[in-house]
Amino acid sequence: MIKNAKPVLITGGCGFVGRHMTRRLLQAGYSLWIVDDCSTGQHPGNWLPGADTRKDVAPGVIEYDGGKVVFILGDARDFFTGRVDLGELEEPAFGDVFHFAAVIGGRSTIDGNPMAVAIDLALDALCFNWAVRARPERLLYASSSAAYPVDLQGDGGAVALKESDIQFGGRLGQPDMTYGWSKLTGEYLARIAHDHYGLHTACVRPFSGYGEEQDLSYPVPSIALRAAKREAPLTVWGSGLQGRDFVHIDDCIEAMLRVLARVEDGSGVNIGSGTLTNFREVARTFADLEGYEPEIKPLADKPVGVHSRYADISHMTEILQWQPAISIEEGFGRVLKVARERNAQGL
Ligand SMILES: NC(=O)c1ccc[n+]([C@@H]2O[C@H](COP(=O)([O-])OP(=O)(O)OC[C@H]3O[C@@H](n4cnc5c(N)ncnc54)[C@H](O)[C@@H]3O)[C@@H](O)[C@H]2O)c1
Repeated sequence: MIKNAKPVLITGGCGFVGRHMTRRLLQAGYSLWIVDDCSTGQHPGNWLPGADTRKDVAPGVIEYDGGKVVFILGDARDFFTGRVDLGELEEPAFGDVFHFAAVIGGRSTIDGNPMAVAIDLALDALCFNWAVRARPERLLYASSSAAYPVDLQGDGGAVALKESDIQFGGRLGQPDMTYGWSKLTGEYLARIAHDHYGLHTACVRPFSGYGEEQDLSYPVPSIALRAAKREAPLTVWGSGLQGRDFVHIDDCIEAMLRVLARVEDGSGVNIGSGTLTNFREVARTFADLEGYEPEIKPLADKPVGVHSRYADISHMTEILQWQPAISIEEGFGRVLKVARERNAQGL
């Protein structure tokens, strides 16, 4: 354990990003509190190192590894408003906070059930209300590239999105559905928490994070699985000409830690590769890696979101003194390896 380091709080710590951050911080020697309702996340009993050391301390509150990890199975809104029975435990003074808990659900939920996603407004408002009272040392808010104005992401010429395309006090534009609105509002709250309450806050705007463990409702693992099954034709949603900026989860985690160390005024930093890749290219890359040549077939009736979304990474590389290290070929290769294992298990 790191000497004198205060515990770290991770909301949504059982989700895709949260599990990676949890493992990274445990390796670095931190003790953690994780709050997750496991609505989409996976219970730590299934993935946490030391999961066999479970000790129940209150209903829904579990200690692992002699208290190195405290897991609260519950709604983060209840935690933020002090409505979780912690049993014999007391809420500690936290060092870093990573606020990842959110309703997302992929493009079909963002477009198809926007009011469910709007719950994120409540989650974020309660998170920042808690933070200005509890006063953690630093707080990282997971915003999103969905906060950017959608009129910069049409098919009339793709624009690399830069941090200054969102200007509080200036041009904000129309973000992407309720998901984008909640992220834009969360960023505003992070600034307020800094400017009015003196908290160290930072925001990240990840583009399309992907990785081996990602849920199959996301396009990269899902196309990888279809390629591992050698489906022909190999389908992609929409025309397949819509593009995204894919960045491997290991790079996302590294970038998040660097942003939290370097930004304290609540401003947002892109996390992307700076490369626009369309879904036909994604499918073709997986087919090449799998070693077959299927026809790529568009599925016109599927939701696709904005046409082109990718990052200008000049600000990111300048302030982080770093850029993503994992190429698409390497990252997609890792995802395909897992897809082959999933296929072998009959998934
Ligand atoms: N993965 C990406 O590429 C990406 C891109 C942009 C932004 N983000 C943001 O990063 C964060 C993490 O994303 P992710 O990909 O890990 O998503 P995820 O869905 O895998 O994880 C979200 C976690 O939050 C939990 N959760 C949802 N509502 C909750 C509630 N009320 N109380 C407690 N827990 C709750 C879920 O069970 C889940 O474990 C999110 O805020 C997301 O908007 C992610």
